[in-house]
Amino acid sequence: MDDLERLAADIGRADTVVAFTGAGISAPSGVPTFRGDNGVWEHFDEGQFTYGRFQRDPEGFWADRLELQRVMFDGEFEPNVAHEALAAMGRKEHLEAILTQNTDGLHADAADSVSSDSSETTLLELHGNARRVHCPDCGRRTDCDPVFERAADGELPPTCDCGGVYKPDVVLFGEQLPGAVIQRARALARESDVFLAIGSSLVVEPAASLPRLAASPETTVGIVNLEPTPVDSTADVVCQEDVTAVLPRLRDLLAE
Ligand code: APR
Repeated sequence: MDDLERLAADIGRADTVVAFTGAGISAPSGVPTFRGDNGVWEHFDEGQFTYGRFQRDPEGFWADRLELQRVMFDGEFEPNVAHEALAAMGRKEHLEAILTQNTDGLHADAADSVSSDSSETTLLELHGNARRVHCPDCGRRTDCDPVFERAADGELPPTCDCGGVYKPDVVLFGEQLPGAVIQRARALARESDVFLAIGSSLVVEPAASLPRLAASPETTVGIVNLEPTPVDSTADVVCQEDVTAVLPRLRDLLAE
């Protein structure tokens, strides 16, 4: 029995399976990762996208955010076979929850494409969703495209009808993750019988601590990532392979 067969057997027996995903699962769809060769943080500085800067210098923040959006989400992205494999595992009730750091919305697209029924799997977008903007003054959330178009046409910063400055509906550096969301994520990690960390360098919080919270003698922790991570030593199974090879195989093993 190889590692993936062992993982599939553990998933088949588990009550609660939780997947935690990062930029690596969307890389095969063409979305850049943050770290590593040609990662987003080679071209930008995290300091450009802090909550403090959004408040202090909304015009400069939005000018830089337009550039970031062009680099990260230039063109139409579609879910890849790894997103689809996770969505299919959810349809078969093998997956309780997907916790994602990604703001690209591709897990929700994959769930929609796998079946017209809504998936049973809980999706927690820990860092928000970059396809929306949010008005902190009146609470309105709306599609980002028209707002980015207005910003590109020179409305810097773009504002809501109420006069508030729109903020990308993502968690900025220096901003707290919503308390209810992070508590739910921690509870799911603790409850899990199998916890899979997929396509994340696992170096920022909460990514670094969730697999450690999950780890216990009764829980199987699996890591799927091209490169080693600081959490590998606590994991039961480490697959240093492409997500597009591992996840479809896992789905197929579960279907056998
Ligand atoms: N298959 C498997 N792993 C992959 C693949 C692939 N096809 N492509 C890339 N990876 C791996 C890389 O080896 C890397 O370790 O995905 C990982 C992505 O790591 P990061 O770029 O650090 O992304 P992530 O862990 O999601 O970053 C966390 O940091 O700056 C922030 O807010 C940003 O949400 C982000 C957070």
